[in-house]
Amino acid sequence: MCGIVGFTGSTAASPVLIEGLRRLEYRGYDSAGVAVQRNGQLRLVHRMGKVAGLAEAVEQEQLEGTCGIGHTRWATHGRPSTANAHPHTSCDGRIAVVHNGIIENYVELKEELEADGHRFTSQTDTEVAAHLIEAAYAQTPDLVEAVRAATQRMAGAYGLAVISADEPGAIVVTRKDSPIVIGMGPDGARVASDVIALIDATRDVTVMADGELAKLSPTEITYYNAAGQVVDPKITHIDWDIDVAEKGGYPDFMLKEIHEQPRVIRDTLAGRLVDGTLAIDELDLSVEELNLIDRVYVIACGTSYHAGLIAKNLIEGWARIPTEVEVASEFRYRNPIITPTTLVVAVSQSGETADTLAAIRDARCKGAKVFGITNVIGSPVARESDGVIYTKANKEIAVASTKSFLGQVVSLTLLGLLLAQVKGKMRTNQIRLLFRELADTAAQVESILSDVSAIDEAALACKDASSALFIGRGMGAAISYEGALKLKEISYLHAEAYAAGEMKHGPIALLCDGFPVIAIATQSPVYDKVISNLQESKARGAMIVAVATEGDEEIRKHADHVIYIPKVRDCFSAITASVPLQLLARSIAVLRGCNVDQPRNLAKSVTVE
Ligand code: G6P
Repeated sequence: MCGIVGFTGSTAASPVLIEGLRRLEYRGYDSAGVAVQRNGQLRLVHRMGKVAGLAEAVEQEQLEGTCGIGHTRWATHGRPSTANAHPHTSCDGRIAVVHNGIIENYVELKEELEADGHRFTSQTDTEVAAHLIEAAYAQTPDLVEAVRAATQRMAGAYGLAVISADEPGAIVVTRKDSPIVIGMGPDGARVASDVIALIDATRDVTVMADGELAKLSPTEITYYNAAGQVVDPKITHIDWDIDVAEKGGYPDFMLKEIHEQPRVIRDTLAGRLVDGTLAIDELDLSVEELNLIDRVYVIACGTSYHAGLIAKNLIEGWARIPTEVEVASEFRYRNPIITPTTLVVAVSQSGETADTLAAIRDARCKGAKVFGITNVIGSPVARESDGVIYTKANKEIAVASTKSFLGQVVSLTLLGLLLAQVKGKMRTNQIRLLFRELADTAAQVESILSDVSAIDEAALACKDASSALFIGRGMGAAISYEGALKLKEISYLHAEAYAAGEMKHGPIALLCDGFPVIAIATQSPVYDKVISNLQESKARGAMIVAVATEGDEEIRKHADHVIYIPKVRDCFSAITASVPLQLLARSIAVLRGCNVDQPRNLAKSVTVE
């Protein structure tokens, strides 16, 4: 969703801002803008559409100056338009603000400000921040104090970066429930809503805490607590490379990230089996506490929710603990049964999804222990959970999640094994064997990636369809949901997933000649049942694409296209079978001429409800 950048230093600000905004493009946005301070004035440029358009406009306008802020906007309040693009300014144009999040009481604040004579030029909630700061600055002409006073009036979520024509070289930032990171580079100080926008300048960053403020100048950064007292920053070292933000020879980030998955599996498992025993120390719960767990909820959104569906099969199957999987946006508004022995597992790639975060808070309030599974160190999900497992996917740029998903599935598999271990449901040698086989999936995924000809052939057969059905049973059903989501996200081809046995209760009505049915038909206890469902589909003219186990010749009788994958135990089939579905979705999207990395209307991290 929205992105914030800011720079104050010894060199021109606008190239730094534009480069930072480019790095944030992956999050999804509809318009962009910058404000640069020079000679006691602020100059602004806004554009609808891509950052490339903004970059051209900034060059034409010759925005000079060494201090500025920039933003990519994903519309929430007010349609996508130039007038609604950030930065927004005060009435006198001397204060400019960029904002992520939602100011929930903006209607009330706007009415009050308008009654005091403030004039608004946009439909956004953000603009009230500019006017509130203007009003506070008129009382106390100090930008830190004015921002602090203004935010005390604001309810909701905000990451804010503010500049004033009257405070040369200064950027004031603050946050609540919306990330802000700050770092000092060789040429000046930078701020961004995502570390990727400043990692080429420094790897030592401060992830701001809620309520904190900071004032950036070209040579120093001062941090304040919510009471306005100066505090010491906590520096976090980022250990991944900037090349995650480059395509490394691949045509798109999605393909690059799909190919990184063997590495993700290996890194996620590294160091987890110590002397033959599973170890996840970060969970911060004693064996006794873990042993008491008698109910698990996995809460998540989107692709992460599908990782949860896979986890349900594993946790129930191995540890025999009743496990429910719920989308966070529903969980937070229900009254789920939570006791002190309930474990809530919150899965979030970005670690900042608003619904997941709200569900975590709710679950903790009700007394549950919460484990976070996230890819982002220091993210709100990590901070607000009792324990956290970091997936080792590294930064994911393509909006449609692939390597993060696999990292989540592997982490949840570890959690399932751990719970089975502490509950005494599995013998140590069984756990070791499963762990070894889990580790082997890295090489199996490599083998899938080494020959994609069958996938490309199936993609050609599907590309002109208007709809597709994904089916599977057991683990295969969970995999189907993710396969269908991937396809619709990036190719805009309508896709639906169904537990294959349920097909005859509805979706079978859709089937006609050539209708693509993509089936997970790997070797499993329900293989024969899936074959029956394929026969039912075939009898109605469907075109069958089957993901099947190497060596299965029988499947050819039932499917028009077969994508073979290596033989694995059913419990690990989600890891291997998901990969061809990711590649299939991508190939279809490419054939349909879609922007694979930045699908329309979608955002990489959804920081609003
Ligand atoms: C957005 C993204 C999805 C992601 C979902 C949940 O919709 O486009 O790829 O699965 O948010 O995000 P999270 O960061 O919580 O996993």
